[in-house]
Amino acid sequence: MNILGIETSCDETSAAVLKDGAVASNVISSQLVHREYGGVVPELASREHERLIVTVVDAALRDAGIDKSGIDCVAATVGPGLIGAVMVGLCFAQGLAWSLRKPLVPVNHIEAHIFSGFISEGEEYDPPEGDFISLTVSGGHTLLCLVRENLDYEVIGRTIDDAAGEAFDKTGKMLGLDYPAGPQIDRLAAEGDPSFHRFPRALCGRNYRDNFDFSFSGLKTSVLRFIERHDTEFVESRRPDIAASIQEAIVDVLVEKTVAAALEYKTGSVSVAGGVSANSGLRRQMAEACAKRNLGLHIPKAVYSTDNAAMIASLAGLKLSRGLAGTNSYDVAPFAGFHRS
Ligand code: KG4
Ligand code: ZN
Repeated sequence: MNILGIETSCDETSAAVLKDGAVASNVISSQLVHREYGGVVPELASREHERLIVTVVDAALRDAGIDKSGIDCVAATVGPGLIGAVMVGLCFAQGLAWSLRKPLVPVNHIEAHIFSGFISEGEEYDPPEGDFISLTVSGGHTLLCLVRENLDYEVIGRTIDDAAGEAFDKTGKMLGLDYPAGPQIDRLAAEGDPSFHRFPRALCGRNYRDNFDFSFSGLKTSVLRFIERHDTEFVESRRPDIAASIQEAIVDVLVEKTVAAALEYKTGSVSVAGGVSANSGLRRQMAEACAKRNLGLHIPKAVYSTDNAAMIASLAGLKLSRGLAGTNSYDVAPFAGFHRS
């Protein structure tokens, strides 16, 4: 069974082939046109997907050693994401599936992130038995979910303002870093002192034990005020320390809430996915906190943590194998905001 996956929800044009449940190829083209604007420009993202989609799909098929006639099923992101961007990949997938007379499986981008911690190359994709807590942290989303064994899930917490990735990107921009700033803050933080300055940890601590929501807008304001209070030379010279302090403030909140949720809902394991799960501080602190509480931890390899089509094809494969996928979807409509497909 060969599934072609297509992902175009934001600024990555990606295609992947899943052969009998294992990733055979995963091609990701990251759009550079947004750099000079300090964030993703939706219209430019759609145009770039349009320009790249055929090349990226061809490369994924070639890397997997098949051609179009070898495709048994096409899976594509149906949302959430930038509506024009989602539309490019979904319409392409629908047209291709229809022309090949093969089924089209629409995949929810967030659900694909949730299960991306279980992709392992060369092996079948297999989520754990039993419930688990999933933290999805990307540029657009910060969601805490209780995921049940039957692949159903309940959202138990979400950000009430900025996403965690946005907090990295926007505070990084204040430090003069290019978009996306998350990976650069990660690199700078490795040389800095996280106790240099204590930025706020919102909705945390004793008074918020049952609150699994997140808020990062106060952190943003606090970083801005800190930079305004100090001269440019000082900020420049202490950039690694400021980056390490920002990273620690974000990571502390993510770890505290995720572990608290696992204890509250009595799950044996935790998974962390989305672009921010590539952060080395988050990986380290989450691993330490989970080990202390005897919780299993699943984090995707970096290549599966940011947007990629392997996670789209993998979730489609898993749902098909369990009889949970809708496949008569040539006319399914894309959506922008978070809801469940
Ligand atoms: O999941 P993703 O690729 O795209 C969205 O769906 O948003 O996530 C992108 C986000 C960006 O905000 C980026 O700055 C952040 O993930 N990110 C990181 C790291 N790598 C990517 N944030 C912190 N540390 C990293 N190493
Ligand atoms: Zn994403």
